[in-house]
Amino acid sequence: MSIAPVELLRFDTDAELVQRFIERLCKQLSQAIAARGKAYLVVSGGRTPIKLFSELSHQPLDWARVTITLADERWVAADDAASNECLVKQHLLQNRAAAATFVSLLEPTAGPVASASAAESKLAQLPTFDVVILGMGEDGHTASLFPCSAELEQGLTTAAAALVVRPTTAPHQRISMSLRRLLDSRQIYFHLSGAAKADVLARALKDTNHHAMPVRAVLHQTQVPVSVLLAG
Ligand code: 6PG
Repeated sequence: MSIAPVELLRFDTDAELVQRFIERLCKQLSQAIAARGKAYLVVSGGRTPIKLFSELSHQPLDWARVTITLADERWVAADDAASNECLVKQHLLQNRAAAATFVSLLEPTAGPVASASAAESKLAQLPTFDVVILGMGEDGHTASLFPCSAELEQGLTTAAAALVVRPTTAPHQRISMSLRRLLDSRQIYFHLSGAAKADVLARALKDTNHHAMPVRAVLHQTQVPVSVLLAG
């Protein structure tokens, strides 16, 4: 059954976007808990989601029934400022949301390849995600599915849940969820902010070449509802 095209919600300010986003997230996560006893939330790194994380951490959800993981991770120490895990622990797993369960993509004692296969088995054991929150880079990457990386085709086609990605235009080796695992979800959101991202989104929506802009592989699929929240 194919779903409606991408829903685009535009906001004048980041604050207005975050407020509306929080309402939708709390409703969907509460519905998941009511229906299945648990809710599974995937978030992304970067600078855009920080205010959202902070506001979400105060929400009166049954956080003990929420499991949170990452769409991708940089291969750095978990306390490194570049770590997405560090970002989530600093801004989201605080206040009421501190009661949530976090599934790390990192295996501190293993290298990237062994860590990716450990992440693979952890992610493969998680059920369909209730909500996936993605960002988008100005090169059209999402999660760590980068147009510049040699692993892109693998990321777009593998049945595995995770893979190692070595972007050439962004720092750090990454572990990324595959397209297949990202789409094993009930709702996908893109959280974008600013005129530059609005331009990239317009280009991504206009064409279907997934290798030029991997974000298109999510925007143009008809399996999972996609909503884009864009501020500015
Ligand atoms: C990462 C993210 C990545 C991010 C975009 C947008 O690890 O960097 O998962 O996909 O969402 O690069 O980042 P900004 O929000 O900083 O623009």
